[in-house]
Amino acid sequence: MNKIKKLAFATDHTAVGIRDEIIKYLKEMDYEIEEFILCKNKNYDYPDYAYKVAYAVVNRTVDKGILICGTGIGMSIAANKIRGIIAAVCWNENIAKLASQHNNANILCLGSRINSVSEICCMIKIFLSSFFEKRHTFRIKKIRDIEKQEYGKIGNNIVV
Ligand code: RB5
Repeated sequence: MNKIKKLAFATDHTAVGIRDEIIKYLKEMDYEIEEFILCKNKNYDYPDYAYKVAYAVVNRTVDKGILICGTGIGMSIAANKIRGIIAAVCWNENIAKLASQHNNANILCLGSRINSVSEICCMIKIFLSSFFEKRHTFRIKKIRDIEKQEYGKIGNNIVV
């Protein structure tokens, strides 16, 4: 089990006010942060950030990703579109721990409108210091098999 050293981090507009505090906390814990601030045309839409962080994770330029939007839901939906990503929305420390231990999540998605800054920091800490339990590997393999089998096959008839 490798120690997590480098993180990709991004928020949408809902977490701009708490972003610096969280980054400071992560740096104090000695994590190296690749932060994505796109800010093109003051556009803070969560899919743009989820996409950037998800790519950093699958390309292994970072060890894990942290995404924050209002609820965490939009970020997780978008990030999970990228093959290889397991993005988990969490709202308490126990769930954040289990997202690592049972689901092998490589991105943690949190809600700036759901949790306080201190709760968010505690969830990040426990997520990053918990490790996947190998006994759950066969279930993750089933997810990978679904990805392999289904990617690009369906969904073309879905309209917004
Ligand atoms: C933006 O208002 C909000 O929809 C977004 O931050 C997020 O909560 C979506 O899931």
